[in-house]
Amino acid sequence: YSCENIRNFSIIAHIDHGKSTLADRLLELTGTIKAGLKGSSPQFLDKLKVERERGITGQHGHVDFSWEVSRSMAACQGALLLVDATQGVQAQSLSVFHAARERGLKIIPVLNKIDLPAAQPERIAAQMQSTFGLNPSDMLHISAKTGQGVSDVLRAIVERIPPPAGNVEEKLKAFLFDSSYDRYRGVISLVSVQNGVLRKGDKIASSYTRKRYEITELGIMHPEEVPTSALLPGQVGYIACNMKQSSEAHIGDTLHRVGEVVEPMMGFQPAKAMVYAGIYPVDSSDFPKLEESIKRLTLTDRSVTVQRESSTALGQGNRLGFLGSLHMDVFRQRLEDEYDANVIITAPTVPYKVIYRDRTVIISNPTDFPDVSDPSTQVREVHEPVVKASIIVPEDYLGEMMDLCFSHRAEELDHRYLDVSGAGSARAILTCTMPLSEIVTDFFDKLKSRSSGFASFDYEDAGYKRSDLVKMTFLLNSKPVDALALIIHRSSEQAVGRMWTKKLHKVIPRQLFEVPIQATVGKRVVARETLSAMRADVTAGLYGGHYERKMKHLENQKESKRKMKRVGSIELPQEAFYSILSTK
Ligand code: GTP
Repeated sequence: YSCENIRNFSIIAHIDHGKSTLADRLLELTGTIKAGLKGSSPQFLDKLKVERERGITGQHGHVDFSWEVSRSMAACQGALLLVDATQGVQAQSLSVFHAARERGLKIIPVLNKIDLPAAQPERIAAQMQSTFGLNPSDMLHISAKTGQGVSDVLRAIVERIPPPAGNVEEKLKAFLFDSSYDRYRGVISLVSVQNGVLRKGDKIASSYTRKRYEITELGIMHPEEVPTSALLPGQVGYIACNMKQSSEAHIGDTLHRVGEVVEPMMGFQPAKAMVYAGIYPVDSSDFPKLEESIKRLTLTDRSVTVQRESSTALGQGNRLGFLGSLHMDVFRQRLEDEYDANVIITAPTVPYKVIYRDRTVIISNPTDFPDVSDPSTQVREVHEPVVKASIIVPEDYLGEMMDLCFSHRAEELDHRYLDVSGAGSARAILTCTMPLSEIVTDFFDKLKSRSSGFASFDYEDAGYKRSDLVKMTFLLNSKPVDALALIIHRSSEQAVGRMWTKKLHKVIPRQLFEVPIQATVGKRVVARETLSAMRADVTAGLYGGHYERKMKHLENQKESKRKMKRVGSIELPQEAFYSILSTK
């Protein structure tokens, strides 16, 4: 046996540059799937993606999912770097290129969509040369849609990408790089066999957990699961073993035979939750149902972390951690479909590092954030996560993008041009460091609208940085509403305080008494609105002249006012939270 005839590769590209379309053509050309009618693509991979319920079709290549992309690369020796010849290099083209480079993959540059009149293959080739240092003579010009040039892609895969290295004689070593869950068979893992042979009935163990399993089924993805008698070195395939919990399948784990010892392969950093939010039912009595729905969804999306939490304002809920804000939006959408009702999601928070005299604590719930102005809390410093952001945009929008970045606390702003020369507006790449918290809410929407949709954006983790952060608390009738607490930069306390008090003023129903709405930082009130009292007209409908009765009613009304004030409770329906928190 030799791996000589195996080629493992990924297709990497910016969103919509044609990955699924090219994959379909390659599957057709290799006879893996039947060709669709000309021009009507079966989009096999998109269908698969949907079937796998990951719910992120169209988001692949987005920064939140870079982790998913990089782990698939771990099973490959090469990558097709696909660039749309009408759009050129975009932000995710850069990040996937670097990820492939770092993994030592052989990269085949492919210019796609050359059938379109707007395609500028020469210009984009020059752009790719200056950006990636790739040679234009190595670039393939294709149309994944019409099939033009696709057979050259196959040839280049065979000629340029090396076969995997592996030896049947050596001890079994298989790399686990993805997993899904099947109701009947339990966890299904995707593995890349490095050495040795995997067969049904084999007893294997995880290097990570040391747990033991027996293979009950294995095979290759062709492109759906096709059982085979064995998986050989260099092959990528699926295995089912008696693994019951999704959490047992560790992405990046090395599987070996029970009783043998192998050096585990370098794994992955686990996907890190970078955005947290509390999720509550609009109707508190629905909590068990909501929690059940969350559980079901996390079976197919393991990168979400879940913890119970409760809020005095919203009752019982869960605090969820996501890879990014897009990931959060996608999950929320899936959750509302699954659970069949609206959910209240608190404002997203990034994990802050609070350094005390004697310890460091990571805080991902604003309610737990200390009052930094109070010396008795003994807070030394607060650090926040920062990212290195890149924006690719036509030069006409460069100024606009710089303004946008500066208004989001950008630092170390820099830019250069991607195009050496050529007709039309040149593309520029803008880089800066920015606090992660600045891009988790509406940064992406602003970026798109202020660049007329032309800007593409990506970012990578750049560690933590010291920052001047404070907790903002909102008081209704002098009582803090825990679900609305925010951690913000001191420079924005006025603006944020004013915006939120206005928002609250709009959605809170008037009460029988006046309600002050205050935004506070420590003991300072930074913004205030007043909700005037509703005068419940209890005298309406009473006959004139029944003076005594009228007086009695007014007395009662006063009495109830006092009661309400004394308790300080406000009739705040959960729907009000929903409308405050769901409007951006
Ligand atoms: P995501 O998975 O969403 O990131 O997209 P993708 O990279 O898989 O792109 P996809 O294959 O879905 O293609 C995006 C759009 O471009 C679709 O409308 C395709 O029909 C179209 N498209 C892809 N390749 C070509 C091409 O060679 N020519 C033309 N004219 N259109 C193409």
